[in-house]
Amino acid sequence: MHAGVKIFAPATVANVACGFDTLGFAIDKPGDEILAHFSDTPGLKISKITGAKGKLPYEVEKNTAGFAALKLLEHLGEQDRGIHLEIRKKMPFGSGLGSSAASAAGAVMAINELLGRPIVTKRELLPFAVLGEQIADGAYHADNVAPSLMGGIIFIRSNQTLDVHHLPVPKGIYASVVYPHIEVLTKDSREVLSNQVGLKECIQQTGNLGGLVVGLYNTDLDLIGRSLNDVIIEPQRAKLIPHFYKVKEAALSAGALGCSISGAGPSIFALSANSLVAEEVGESMQKVFHDNKIKNDLYVSPINTDGATLC
Ligand code: HSE
Repeated sequence: MHAGVKIFAPATVANVACGFDTLGFAIDKPGDEILAHFSDTPGLKISKITGAKGKLPYEVEKNTAGFAALKLLEHLGEQDRGIHLEIRKKMPFGSGLGSSAASAAGAVMAINELLGRPIVTKRELLPFAVLGEQIADGAYHADNVAPSLMGGIIFIRSNQTLDVHHLPVPKGIYASVVYPHIEVLTKDSREVLSNQVGLKECIQQTGNLGGLVVGLYNTDLDLIGRSLNDVIIEPQRAKLIPHFYKVKEAALSAGALGCSISGAGPSIFALSANSLVAEEVGESMQKVFHDNKIKNDLYVSPINTDGATLC
């Protein structure tokens, strides 16, 4: 058996209400595992995929993990190295949990670790992971990939230049993420969005984004709560998620600081001041789906500050 490595890359909540394509954070679970081994056959190959129900391609160039790994290997001049990738999908597709991003983030970490860390910082690995994720929805944005790779709450000033920045994580803050078992593909969820934004909404959203950043820096939970409001994207996508507004109301009534769609949906996230509130918030959100006979999963987690890790 050749030497190998295993990486865990966590799920993520993109947009965080007021930061469409510009904000994201990582949670502790679920997450994907990516394994990489040297092989005697030259070139990169995806040798095994589990947990994907036959939905993921084995062709390296069509697979988010494979393409991200390939782009990194090309950059390093190592594309002829014999390497086998194994993808263990541990989270659903089209869930709004950053499934394809986690695979891409895990893949670049796995290749880098296998080769003895030729690239020193995760930030330098980011462009290759973003290229991989782009395969899934055709858009170049890092709001899932960056937190899955680098951990924490990430603000992206520019996706084009990957001008990414960690924001402070207030002590004790917890996320409740409910995934209803319906599939919403990011590509489809982006297609429902209008290209036009009203000036009034633009001003409100800019205020909320700034307010959230200030709230995180000052650990001002009230300001964070007031700012977790999306007046542009959520109203357009809410119709893709059955009972969305009832779930949101349940979360806020149970004490959440704020609640909105996780990434492109259908998962819905809430942030709370501590784990106890987050558990109650999560259960209240789940109850709406249970009452309407929609199967769902709940994840209650602190913000994951590690990102993709060797395990
Ligand atoms: N910002 C992206 C979106 C995240 O909402 O479409 C999903 O990949």
